[in-house]
Amino acid sequence: MSSSLHSLPIPSATFDRIVEVRRDLHQHPELSWKEQRTTERVCGFLGSLGLACDTSLAPTGVVTTLPGRDSSHGIIALRADIDALPIHEETGLPFASRHAGVMHACGHDGHTSSLLGAAALLAAEDELPVPVRLIFQPAEETGEGARALIETGVLDDVTMIFGGHIDRGYPLGSIIVTDGHVNASSDRFKITIAGKGGHAGRPHEATDAVVVGSLLVMALQTIVSREINPAHPSVVTVGRFEAGNASNVIAEHACLRGTIRAQDPGVRVELEQSIRRVSTAVGALHDARVDVEIQPGTPAVINDRTPTELARHAAAQVVGDGNVRPLEHANMGAEDFGWYARDRPACYVRFGTSSPGHEFFPAHSSRFDFDERTLAVAAAYYHRLAIHAGQHLIPASS
Ligand code: NI
Repeated sequence: MSSSLHSLPIPSATFDRIVEVRRDLHQHPELSWKEQRTTERVCGFLGSLGLACDTSLAPTGVVTTLPGRDSSHGIIALRADIDALPIHEETGLPFASRHAGVMHACGHDGHTSSLLGAAALLAAEDELPVPVRLIFQPAEETGEGARALIETGVLDDVTMIFGGHIDRGYPLGSIIVTDGHVNASSDRFKITIAGKGGHAGRPHEATDAVVVGSLLVMALQTIVSREINPAHPSVVTVGRFEAGNASNVIAEHACLRGTIRAQDPGVRVELEQSIRRVSTAVGALHDARVDVEIQPGTPAVINDRTPTELARHAAAQVVGDGNVRPLEHANMGAEDFGWYARDRPACYVRFGTSSPGHEFFPAHSSRFDFDERTLAVAAAYYHRLAIHAGQHLIPASS
């Protein structure tokens, strides 16, 4: 994969500053809701630009709003996630994590420093068309942070919101902008099966929860393959199956836990209904009691047309038309940006980071890393986008 980035799209002094922040955050990763030091570091950087920090909305995380010429058309919001993962780092980098078992293995250190880079570029402008809100969001990995911030009103005066993710699947210097579905919804299910325990040699006196559970695991596989339109990507995975205590005892209870992913909100509803129906039917077939609990998670990320057009334009200004591309295939990963995108016109992009000789490990790997020049691309993109989208919000006559 060749890189299409020939020169840095931001001043090298700004680049050096955000690389330094990225490495510092990388050395000091913090798990969801524990991002205190990260919050302080972000506030310190924003403070050095003369920007006021609001840290009152959630236990961790920072929000700042840069003023604009015209505030009557709302605010443009840009969001970065700031948390790390419970993974033990094995990159061997000189700035590897100093916290055993905690690592920035999803590039959120990069997202945070990119948005700080954009803050520096925006703060250096004489005037912005409309106010720009920068959201440094905690707890993306647990799928809780976006929702918590929205409940405090962070989107109340926001007209459009944008975000993005570093992605090793695309070359450095490319920005991936796609209309419509870009991340799947993610929900969890727990199915408990109550049969009747008994002697392993006398199955006729028992109702075997292992057999019912096994049948159910297989029956659940037919939902996506036989009931859902194959044009709409979806997944039902049973990730955990617990049952039984001894080889000579028929298990009375079994518990299946899994994940449901869907790109289309209608399919999400269909999957839930089918899981309930199939589970109940399999229980009835063998006279076992089956209970289904579905724990709703993050909604799908669906990019809206206008913000996506604005994003595509800003991306082309930074990396050139030919390096703005659509997603190559459906992404079934979850992203809690979906909560913002559910409430406001939104666009979520991906920043390519592969470069020759650096085919990086996947996100959530203990050896994950990325090309730091991606930070410059992302910072430049957010900077251009905030101005371009702001100009779009103000009618030509005003
Ligand atoms: Ni991530």
